[in-house]
Amino acid sequence: MNYDIKDINLADKGKMRIGWAERDMPVLRLVRDRFAKEKPLAGKKMSACLHVTAETANLARTLKAGGADVVLCASNPLSTQDDVAAALVRDFDVPVFAINGEDNKTYYQHVHAAIGHAPVVTMDDGADLVSEIHHSYPDIAKQIIASMEETTTGVIRLRAMANDGALKFPVIAVNDAITKNLFDNRYGTGQSTVDGIIRATDILLAGKNVIVAGYGWCGRGFATRCRGMGANVIVTEVDPIRALEAAMDGFRVLTMMEAANVGDLFCTLTGDIHVIRPEHMMSMKDGAIVANSGHFNVEIDLDGLQKIATSGPTQVRHLVDEYILPNGRRIYILAEGRLINLAAAEGHPASVMDMSFATQALTTEWAVQQGAGLDVRVHDVPDAIGDWVSRLKLQSMGITIDELTEEQKEYLSSWQMGT
Ligand code: ADE
Repeated sequence: MNYDIKDINLADKGKMRIGWAERDMPVLRLVRDRFAKEKPLAGKKMSACLHVTAETANLARTLKAGGADVVLCASNPLSTQDDVAAALVRDFDVPVFAINGEDNKTYYQHVHAAIGHAPVVTMDDGADLVSEIHHSYPDIAKQIIASMEETTTGVIRLRAMANDGALKFPVIAVNDAITKNLFDNRYGTGQSTVDGIIRATDILLAGKNVIVAGYGWCGRGFATRCRGMGANVIVTEVDPIRALEAAMDGFRVLTMMEAANVGDLFCTLTGDIHVIRPEHMMSMKDGAIVANSGHFNVEIDLDGLQKIATSGPTQVRHLVDEYILPNGRRIYILAEGRLINLAAAEGHPASVMDMSFATQALTTEWAVQQGAGLDVRVHDVPDAIGDWVSRLKLQSMGITIDELTEEQKEYLSSWQMGT
C-alpha cells in the first residue's frame, strides 16, 4: 500500500483512540452496519481530504464497509492525529497521506497523492481537492460523480465557482445540512475552540474580555460557552442581522477597532480574510492573545504583523508565538493562526461528528445512487437524510418525542379548520 504518515509504530495508540471515538458515534455505527450488508458504494474509488482524526477514521471505516476504495489526505497541516493515521494504515487498510506539522509543499503533495487515486467521488473539508482537481486534473474532473463538502468556507468557495460557471462536476453542500451546521458548527466548534485555547495557553476565562469575531453558528457557539465560563464576551460582525442577534442575545457588539484595546483574548470565526489587521494589533493591550477558529489561516493578518513587529515569532510555549510590537507591547498568536480547535485540541467531540459524518456517509450513498443524474451545481443534502439522522441521534440519547395526532396533521394541512 502506498501511504505517507509519520510513524506506523503509533498505530496501537491510534487504534484505541478510534475505538474511544466510536463509542460516541452510534448513528454512524448504524450506517456502517447497514453499509456492510448492502455495499452501496461497492467498487467506488473515493478520495477524502479531511482532518485526520479519530472521528474521520470512523467515517473512513464506514465508507469502506460500504465497499468504497478510500484514500485519505489531511485538510489542514496541523490537525492530523499521527497515531490515528498509523492505525488507519495498519489496522483498517486505508492509505493515508498526512503528517502533523507538514509544510505547505508536503501538504499539497499529499493532496495530489489523493487525487492520484483517480476517485469518482471526493469529500472535502475546505474544497482543496475540488480546487486542485479543477486547476490541474481535467481528466479526473470528467469522471467525478459528486463531491461532498464539509465546511462553511468550502461551500462559499464552491458557490463562487458555480456562480462563475467554473464548476465542472456536481457538489453537495453537506455543511449546509441542518444536522451538520446547527450542531457541529455550534456545539462542536463552541466547545472545541474553548478546549484548544485552554490547552494552548492554560488561561482562566473567567473575568477575561473575550472578543469573538463573527456571529455565525461557530461564533455564537464559542461566545455562549465563553460567557458560560464567566468571560465578558464582545462580538464583532459585518452583518447587521447577526449583529442585532448578538446584541439581543445580550452580547456587547463593537467594531474590531473599538474592541482592540478592550480584549484579553481574540478569536476569529468568520471564514473571511484579514479580520484582525496590524491597525487592530497596534491598539491591543500588552499580552493580548489572538487565535483563529475559522477554516483557513487567513483571518489574522500574520504577514502584516510580521512587517510591523520588532521581534517574533518567538515560541514561548507549544503553539504560542510571541511578537513584540513597535510600541513595546507583546501579543501572542496561537497555532500560527490555524484552526485552534484542531491544532491544539482534538477538534469537535465524537458525539457531534457522529451526526456530521452520518450525514456525509448517507449523502455519499445518495450521490452514488443518483450516478450521472446529478446536474453540475451545488446541491443540498436531501431532507430525508437530516430527518433520519436526527431521529436516530435522539434515540441514541434516550429521548422520545411526541407525534402529531391525526387532528393536528389535519389542522396543519388545512386552511378551513377553525382558528
Ligand atoms: N472538524 C472539526 N472537528 C473534527 C473532528 N473531530 N474530526 C474531523 N473533522 C473535524
